[in-house]
Amino acid sequence: MQNFEYNTPTKLIYGEGVITKLPEVLGGIGKRVLLTYGGGSIKKSGLYARVTELLKGFEVTELSGIEPNPKYSTSVLEGVRLCKEKNIQAVLAVGGGSVLDCSKAIAAGALYDGEPWDLIIGKVPTEAALPIVDIITMAATGSEYDPGCVISRTETNDKVGYMDQHLYPVASFVDPTYTFTLPNRQTAAGVADAMNHIFEQYFNADPNDFADGMMEAGLRSLMKNVKIVLEAPGNYDARAEIFLVSSLACNGILSLGEKGSGWPMHGIEHALSAYYDITHGIGLAIITPRWMAHILNEQTLGRFVRYGVNVMDIDPKLPRHTIAKQAIADTYAFFESIGIPMHLKDVGIDESRIIEMAKHIAENEGLDGRHVYAPLTEADILTILRNSL
Ligand code: NZQ
Ligand code: ZN
Repeated sequence: MQNFEYNTPTKLIYGEGVITKLPEVLGGIGKRVLLTYGGGSIKKSGLYARVTELLKGFEVTELSGIEPNPKYSTSVLEGVRLCKEKNIQAVLAVGGGSVLDCSKAIAAGALYDGEPWDLIIGKVPTEAALPIVDIITMAATGSEYDPGCVISRTETNDKVGYMDQHLYPVASFVDPTYTFTLPNRQTAAGVADAMNHIFEQYFNADPNDFADGMMEAGLRSLMKNVKIVLEAPGNYDARAEIFLVSSLACNGILSLGEKGSGWPMHGIEHALSAYYDITHGIGLAIITPRWMAHILNEQTLGRFVRYGVNVMDIDPKLPRHTIAKQAIADTYAFFESIGIPMHLKDVGIDESRIIEMAKHIAENEGLDGRHVYAPLTEADILTILRNSL
């Protein structure tokens, strides 16, 4: 088993109606709040009205219009400017992972005198960030319980993961009823993202039974409950269980003691989103079975057999290679069954830039290193992209 340190300082405040505690939580931090949100879903759902009612007594500055795949040059810089101008004491993010991610970058940039991009790419260390509180409205990224954010810079086709201890939210309000309004496409994409966070940990070189068991349970739960909510969007318990798994799926707790994998599918997908601005979870679902098929060999076979038997319910008496191949086929079929388009061409990506993207990924994501479970060269990445078309 690998050595590890584990500490998640975020308070998860979970369940229907918990938002009433917002004034108490924010009150302990400060009066001047930057309220951040996206393109309007929170206005449609009524959450915006509820939050502003609860924020009476606070000095609220708003940053709206944060994009999916949040952009540095517009949203992050504008948020940093507002924080400095209004001497903001806390950032309150209300929305999906994109709003929360953008707010994390803003919170760090607000307390830094130089160019915030240097923090995001790790050129300078992050010394501090404003306290972040969030009301997360989408079960997907796990940003509500992790120290990461992912920021896009359209000019350079960069989409960069930025991780730092200062980026843990102080508190995250997780109310499953807020996800009732998600369109099915976003619900499915969110589940695909959370499943992929588990895959990125499950396929590793030093597994242990306990962590494997948590991850297998997480995958089974997501697969079962997404089917329920696609039919019945207001099913509270199914929504709640999806949220619970997705909140935990990205912060390391599900793979304690296991070896890191290098997160290769995220490395590949971030380039797809950076070049074509596609939905993260959909890009991942398309890449996943192609990546699996590409790395299946004698060394990785055992992981696929375990996954096939324990998650996909494949008969353990079948030959090991048959189980592994069936597990990959079942993964593809599952994503297709929840309505995800399973080819890059379905989301507007053709052959024209895949050579350029493979080069960009190979140069920027370090997927051929020894820390990666199944290292990928530029040629491997290109093959995976080609097979995904
Ligand atoms: O902008 P609004 O109007 O709010 O609409 C959003 C957006 O259009 C909508 N939405 C969110 N909650 C809703 C809702 N619509 C109706 N009802 C609700 N309750 O859904 C759309 C997508 O929202 P977004 O925030 O982009 O989705 P998600 O939560 O999947 O976040 C994706 C971003 O997170 C990054 C991704 O790369 C991507 O940029 N990631 C962040 C991670 C992290 N912080 O740890 C890890 C992930 O691997 C991921 O890379
Ligand atoms: Zn993800």
